[in-house]
Amino acid sequence: MIRAAVIGVGAIGRHHARVYTELENVELAAIADPDESRRAALANRYKIATYPDHQSLFEHERLDVVSVAVPTVLHHAVAMMALERGIHVLVEKPIASAVPEARQLIDAAAARGLTLTVGHVERFNPAVIELKRRINTGELGRIFQYQAHRLSPFPSYIRDVGVVLDLATHELDLMRYVVGSEVEHLHAETGRHVHHRHEDMLSGILRFGNGVVGVLDINWLTPTKVREARITGERGMFLLDYLKQEIYFYQNSQAPHDWDAMALFTGVGEGNMTKIFVNKVEPLQAQLRAFVDAAERHTPPIVSGGDGLRALALAELLIASGAEGRVINVAEEAARRGWPIAVGT
Ligand SMILES: NC(=O)c1ccc[n+]([C@@H]2O[C@H](COP(=O)([O-])OP(=O)(O)OC[C@H]3O[C@@H](n4cnc5c(N)ncnc54)[C@H](O)[C@@H]3O)[C@@H](O)[C@H]2O)c1
Repeated sequence: MIRAAVIGVGAIGRHHARVYTELENVELAAIADPDESRRAALANRYKIATYPDHQSLFEHERLDVVSVAVPTVLHHAVAMMALERGIHVLVEKPIASAVPEARQLIDAAAARGLTLTVGHVERFNPAVIELKRRINTGELGRIFQYQAHRLSPFPSYIRDVGVVLDLATHELDLMRYVVGSEVEHLHAETGRHVHHRHEDMLSGILRFGNGVVGVLDINWLTPTKVREARITGERGMFLLDYLKQEIYFYQNSQAPHDWDAMALFTGVGEGNMTKIFVNKVEPLQAQLRAFVDAAERHTPPIVSGGDGLRALALAELLIASGAEGRVINVAEEAARRGWPIAVGT
């Protein structure tokens, strides 16, 4: 049995704990959280050891894998201590609160041959996986634009980071993954309307190396939760609802039927709309299963530390663009800041 622990059992960490108890080859050994009522609730439900902080957890437990689900500013310190103890780590997204911290985590895991993965859970959303499969087979033809809307009411308990690090990092990771290219330059408008310190609104534009344009509409100001993407290409548009795990395809009736004639793309007309079947699963369960498998088999995780670093770097640059009102060339700015942002390194 793989011995697992969860550090931080708030909104998301308590689900990590539950899912570990549902995996066949995993034993949830313990959790850590300074909040006494949260500790008591889980101790009672799962009959496990609990600790008020990560240090005492590491002192008393022999662990194989750990989920780090503490507030973002603590990701680096907690994940680093786990890696130094020889434990495989899944750190919630964003990987850390600054790029150099992310780099240190990646290096520490690599030096010890440990798995480090990041909780970009939408990669395990079956609707995203189906979308990616269809895009890979060329169903959309050339992609023009990936437009993402991730909107929520204001979560008053998130005080350490703004909406760009908290929510936009999901879409930055997904866009890189689905589009299959890296961002060359970006521009953002940001706003702070409710949060005491950080931005709570982002309108961002990204230009990928393969020409795709990414559009980010992200905020904590909308009184309902929206998680949607529209991916438009030569043959039509996919509409993705991340929450419902649904995909619709809107066909461009004027797209040439012959693949070879695609170069002759001339127009757009309204065609058939199809709802695509998606076999719904809990993304978090798929994510934790993949993490444990990668740790056990020493295979590369589906979301690497490098992926987490890239999403974080782009998020930091969007914040800078919004603050300074300028278009940012990613490679130039990364070099200027001394950021090693090549993925996989
Ligand atoms: N992947 C996702 O979809 C997703 C969703 C929600 C949150 N998150 C991420 O998960 C992290 C936690 O977010 P949340 O919404 O669960 O926050 P939260 O505030 O609800 O939970 C954080 C918990 O960590 C505990 N904590 C603080 N310091 C600790 C320490 N030293 N040791 C152990 N526990 C400690 C807090 O008491 C709290 O219970 C954030 O980084 C967030 O970005 C990811």
